[in-house]
Amino acid sequence: MAGADGAMHDSEAHAMHDSEAHAMHDSEAHAMHEKFTTLTPELYAYLVEHNPRPDPVLRDLARETAALGEVSIMQVSVEQGAFLTLLGRIMGARRAVEVGTFTGYSAICMARGLTNDGRLLCCDVNEEWTAIARRYLARAGLADRVDLRLAPALETLRMLPRAEEFDLSFIDADKVNYRAYYEELLARTRPNGIILFDNVLWSGDVINPEDRSESTEAIRALNDFLRRDDRVDVVMLPISDGLTIARKR
Ligand SMILES: C[S@@+](CC[C@H](N)C(=O)[O-])C[C@H]1O[C@@H](n2cnc3c(N)ncnc32)[C@H](O)[C@@H]1O
Repeated sequence: MAGADGAMHDSEAHAMHDSEAHAMHDSEAHAMHEKFTTLTPELYAYLVEHNPRPDPVLRDLARETAALGEVSIMQVSVEQGAFLTLLGRIMGARRAVEVGTFTGYSAICMARGLTNDGRLLCCDVNEEWTAIARRYLARAGLADRVDLRLAPALETLRMLPRAEEFDLSFIDADKVNYRAYYEELLARTRPNGIILFDNVLWSGDVINPEDRSESTEAIRALNDFLRRDDRVDVVMLPISDGLTIARKR
């Protein structure tokens, strides 16, 4: 089917039946899917070492969050935090939203990526965790840039005028509501604005057929929906627990 140089000629491609074309497409896609590097703890340590070093505020926050025990796993990773800051700067983002603030690591990273007159709206329901976030946001000199609202995020988002124009949003809270957060945020995102979804690989459980939990099913449904949603351009990346980036068309 392929010419001597390995390229397929147009006429040959047209002569192929649809099923053959699909088969080829699938096998090509499969071959591409195999290009990835598995992270070992050592390789991951190398990766972290070659990312911006968290400053003392983020370092102390990570330490205090770790002392909370198992829940600390909810905090974004070092490279994810650096990515949030960098993305905001690349975009010149001024208006941003975070759904799921916890103790504030990602909020600090997002707020630092905004323009000097930027504003970050943070949504969470937990007073104890967000009290830590408030403390560290203040220490980072970001308190006046952040509006933290303690209420179910859907309520907070639905109360915002639909004319609101956000540049950047980060969704990292209860998984069952990801789709609903997306719809509320997309309606309030400017064209070319970005919505990020964390945990889209869900520790690998998205492909575990035995896991039929509500959260896992919600993430699967969202992942399936997003790749067909023609309102956005989407890329899913293996950053941390999986990060999807959606750009509003
Ligand atoms: C994965 S953590 C967020 C981690 C945070 N982005 C960070 O990097 O530190 C999820 C957060 O979502 C909050 N949350 C859960 N359900 C929520 C809801 N319905 N509305 C708003 N926040 C919610 C939890 O209280 C928790 O702090």
